[in-house]
Amino acid sequence: MDPVEALRIVGGSRLSGEVDVLGAKNSVLKLMAAALLAEGRTVLYDVPGILDVEIMAELLRRLGCGVAHDPEQRTVSIEVPAALEHRADYDLVRRMRASICVLGPLLARCGAADVALPGGDNIGSRGLDMHVGGLQRLGAEVASEHGYLLATAPGGLRGASLWLDFPSVGATETLLMAAVTASGRTVIDNAAREPEIVDICRMLESMGARIGGIGTSTLEVEGVASLRPVEHHTVPDRIVAGTWAVAATITLGDVRVRRARAEHLEIALDKLATAGASVEVTDDGFRVRMETRPSAVDIVTLPYPGFPTDLQPQFIALNSVAEGAALVTENLFEARFRFVHELARLGADVHTEGHHAIVRGRERLSGAPVEATDIRAGAGLVLAGLVAEGETTVHEVHHIDRGYSGFVADLRRLGADVTRVGVPS
Ligand code: EPU
Repeated sequence: MDPVEALRIVGGSRLSGEVDVLGAKNSVLKLMAAALLAEGRTVLYDVPGILDVEIMAELLRRLGCGVAHDPEQRTVSIEVPAALEHRADYDLVRRMRASICVLGPLLARCGAADVALPGGDNIGSRGLDMHVGGLQRLGAEVASEHGYLLATAPGGLRGASLWLDFPSVGATETLLMAAVTASGRTVIDNAAREPEIVDICRMLESMGARIGGIGTSTLEVEGVASLRPVEHHTVPDRIVAGTWAVAATITLGDVRVRRARAEHLEIALDKLATAGASVEVTDDGFRVRMETRPSAVDIVTLPYPGFPTDLQPQFIALNSVAEGAALVTENLFEARFRFVHELARLGADVHTEGHHAIVRGRERLSGAPVEATDIRAGAGLVLAGLVAEGETTVHEVHHIDRGYSGFVADLRRLGADVTRVGVPS
């Protein structure tokens, strides 16, 4: 049996010190896809050294691009040729659902895109109906055959009035990237407003796109004939920053989170203050200090600016050791509560009913082997392990590696007793 990696955590350390946040995973993958829209060399900065960036780099290479990812310099340089391939194969899409974000740019550049259907994943079914419906309104023909979405726009895409049933991040990005070089004007109503959407809009603008209403629910796009390559800095990862904020709170620590944007985390930081933490906004981020056992805080996940679903497991971990009981409502991904069974192995008292969870805080958790089921569940389990008595081993650490660059090194620098260990598979 080959060894695979796990994290061994000995609970009980208070985290203190400073930590730097890099660019957002959920932005940089889309920025890499957006680079496809312009022939020539696009350079992205503040790129986290995570596996998903490697997978996206490999996907772009197969489409004909030259891609150099330098994790030391935190850059990705993408050389986009005049003529691109237009097929995203299943072997890559199944490894990273976000590969679907090449659909819009490929259709815009090539008039055709064949992208493997990503299927479900560990946090729910995750449909594509809004991506497809919007592209059809822009004039594309879309079929699903042999596990692939086959989209064509032989006569080119045409601007149209679009609306989304729900402010989907992925659908907003697909339609935006398809619309920027469509003929005429496109309006996307009920668009997502996440900071990552603002980031891609800013990059597209500097590439020459004309976009109004950036950061609002109505995006207005005036199509242009072509775009130019650019250099762009990725927006800081608000979910990584938020994870550090919870880590400081749950361990009764004192952590200064640098290169973060507190304004992208307003509700989450406010919840930590309600739990009893002192949150101070600084020039380049924020500082979170905690001295007493946290109080339980209710959470309702919603599209931005609501509370982010990607911080829900970390807050369940916090509530599991808080004073009192909390009601957590998950409105985005139906299966995101699956990890509470793992948390229960550490002694947490969480009862789920549909998309609600009741978390009754315990005075103590006790270390045990657990398994990460997705990136954020993994982060939640690590946080719980930091306060559980004794040793916790978090298996399937590859999930965590997908979203947290240098996580173990940062945790250790802040004083946590965490080691990466090989375990039999
Ligand atoms: N949905 C549909 N039809 C569609 C599109 C979405 O039914 O056509 C549903 C999904 O099934 C889901 C909900 O709408 O229930 C939200 O989906 P959305 O499209 O907003 O999310 P996404 O683009 O698939 C991104 C992030 C997620 C993050 C969500 C919400 C990336 C690569 N992923 O997913 O990040 O949770 O937005 O903010 O950007 C993570 O980082 O751990 C993660 C899962």
